[in-house]
Amino acid sequence: MEEFVVTVDGPAGSGKSTIAKIVAKKYDLTYLDTGAMYRMIALYSLENRVNLEDERSVVEMLENTKLDIIGNQFFLNGKDVSAEIRTPEVSAVVSPVAAIKAVRVKLVELQREISKGKRIILDGRDIGTVVFPKAQVKIFLVASPEERARRRLNEYKEKGIEEDYESVLNSIKERDHIDSTRKESPLKKAEDAIEIDSSKMSIDEVVEAISNCIDRKVG
Ligand code: DC
Repeated sequence: MEEFVVTVDGPAGSGKSTIAKIVAKKYDLTYLDTGAMYRMIALYSLENRVNLEDERSVVEMLENTKLDIIGNQFFLNGKDVSAEIRTPEVSAVVSPVAAIKAVRVKLVELQREISKGKRIILDGRDIGTVVFPKAQVKIFLVASPEERARRRLNEYKEKGIEEDYESVLNSIKERDHIDSTRKESPLKKAEDAIEIDSSKMSIDEVVEAISNCIDRKVG
């Protein structure tokens, strides 16, 4: 089977994972949430109080973390951490963890390995620029920080996590800043990516826009 790669990059809360899951189902693609992989490393660093400033500790951490993804379940060293990786505590530390070069090298390699020979859609920050610069379809999904904060707040509410709008908005803005100004693979639109602003679009409308891009490639 020929590899077919769709990349969806964009800032936190732009709707990447919701949209990518629907598109995956529609086109029978495997879906890989690469943010969840960074979140698993961030969770490990929290639980084990890893000193992220110390290179040796980071290398040791990477040697000691085995990530397995089965469907939409995420296993860190054999333990299902699908819920833990979505907490505000993990969100607060994941950006600095994702800015570490050694972390990115390990996860990019794993992302390519998982994708090998597959028809797949991946979402993240650097998928169209670094992980799969030759992907057949590249989407850059954006939305205003305020709209993204509202969406995140709703997600938390559904999970019974109490947070207030201002702190979610601040956390999103802070993560945007770290993600787009970091030295290693900053969040940016690939030159050949199609930009979609989902602020005022329904989920169906975004799915349709992406479907049109895919149909143009495969049709
Ligand atoms: O999409 P998310 O909020 O689950 O991503 C969590 C963090 O991981 C976010 O701060 C950016 C980082 N990330 C990254 O640097 N590269 C990716 N391909 C995916 C996520």
